[in-house]
Amino acid sequence: MANVLVTKIKSLAGILENGEQKLSGKEMSVLNSISNAWLWVQDGLINDYGSMESLDLSRFSQYEYNTYTAEGSYVLPCYVDSHTHIVFARTREEEFEMRIKGKSYEEIAEAGGGILNSAKRLQAMSEEELYAQALDRLKQLIQFGTGAIEIKSGYGLSVADEIKMLRVIKRLKENCDIPIKATFLGAHAFPLEYKQNREGYIKLIIDEMLPKIAAENLADYIDVFCDQGFFTPQETDVILEAGKRYGLRAKIHGNELGYTGGVQAAVKNKALSVDHLEYTSEVEIACLLASETMPVALPGCSFFLGIPYAPVRKMIDAGLPVCLASDFNPGSTPNGRMGFVVALACSQMKLSVEEAINACTINGAYSLELSNEIGSITRGKRANFYITKPMSSLAIIPYYFGVDQVSKTFINGVCVGSNQA
Ligand code: NIG
Ligand code: FE
Repeated sequence: MANVLVTKIKSLAGILENGEQKLSGKEMSVLNSISNAWLWVQDGLINDYGSMESLDLSRFSQYEYNTYTAEGSYVLPCYVDSHTHIVFARTREEEFEMRIKGKSYEEIAEAGGGILNSAKRLQAMSEEELYAQALDRLKQLIQFGTGAIEIKSGYGLSVADEIKMLRVIKRLKENCDIPIKATFLGAHAFPLEYKQNREGYIKLIIDEMLPKIAAENLADYIDVFCDQGFFTPQETDVILEAGKRYGLRAKIHGNELGYTGGVQAAVKNKALSVDHLEYTSEVEIACLLASETMPVALPGCSFFLGIPYAPVRKMIDAGLPVCLASDFNPGSTPNGRMGFVVALACSQMKLSVEEAINACTINGAYSLELSNEIGSITRGKRANFYITKPMSSLAIIPYYFGVDQVSKTFINGVCVGSNQA
C-alpha cells in the first residue's frame, strides 16, 4: 500500500473535518483549503496534512515513500461520478445528426431508436467485448479525475442481457481500484415486443430479473426511468417496492422530459437520489426539502440534447443539497469528463466554482453512500485525489471549458497516470 508525500501545494482544497455526509444550501459555497500545503498518505489513506511551515520530515523517516511537489498547483479530492451508463456497445452519432436536423430525443425513441437502439447492439455483443470497452472508458475517466463511480445496466432489457451487463460491472468492481456501485436499470425502456404489454415487462423485471440479480449479488441499487413516454409513477412504485424486498435502494431518473411526478415518486420511495430534474418547479423543491433524497443534475445531458438545465441555483438557494454527475452514455451524454460538468455548472447553471466542486465530490459520495470513504480531503479517507496543472485560481477549471486541468490522478495513493493533454 502506497505512502506518498505531496509538498508545496499551492492550495489543498476540499478539506472536511467534521464527518460531513453532504453539504446543503449555503454550506456548498465553502471549499475549505490550506495554502502552501503538504499532504501525507499512508497505506493508501489520507493520514495528515498541514501548511509547509509545519512540515517535519523526520516524522516520515521510518517509512518508504514517494514524493511529489505540486508548486503552483491545486490538490483536490477526486470527483465522485454518481450517475453513468459506461457499459454500452456502440456510439449513436446518427441519432445526434437526426437531432441536428430537428428530430427530438423522444421522437427518435418513439420510432425505435434511442435506448432500444443501444439495447439491440448490446444484446449482440459478448460480455468479454463489453468489459474490454467499459474498462477502457473507466481508465480514461480516472485520468480526468474520477475516483469513484456508479454504473447502470439498462441496455440489456432482457433477463440474460441485463445480467450480462451487471456481470460486466461486477468484473469492473473486482479489477479496478476505485469504488464502483452497480445500479439495476431494467426499467429503462419497454422493449418493442412489450409495447402493448407493459405489465408483462414489469412482471419480467420483478419475477425473473430481480431474483437472479439478487442471487448473484449483482446490484447495489435499483433505478427506473420515470418520465413521459417511459415508466409512470405508478409503475415506478411497483418496481421500487419489489426492489426494496431485495434490499435495493432506489436511485431514479426523473423529470427529464416534463413535470411527470418523478420527484414525488422518488421521495415517496425514500430514494437515495433523483437524477436529471430538468423540469423542477417550486412543488418539486418543496417535496425534496422534506426528504433525504439527493437531487442530482446532469448538465452534460442538457448541453447535448439542447433541453433546459436543471434549476440547481434555485435549489441551492432554497437550502437543498445538489449533486452533479456526468450521465456518460451513448445517447444523451457521450462524455464523462467531470471537469466539463464543473464548467457547465458554472457557466450555464450559475453555480460558484466551490459549489460545483462540492456537488461533484462530497455530494456525489452521499449519492453513493460513500461519504465516509471518499469525496473530500479528510484524515482516514481513501487517498483518491488529483494534482492540477499550475493554475492562477480555481476558476481556471470552468474557465478553460473543455480543457482538463488534471495533471496527475492518485488512487489509493498511487499515481495512476499523468495527463498532459
Ligand atoms: O440518463 N434518460 C434516460 N437514460 C439516459 C439516456 C439513455 C440513452 O439515450 O441511451 C440518460 O440520459
Ligand atoms: Fe442516465
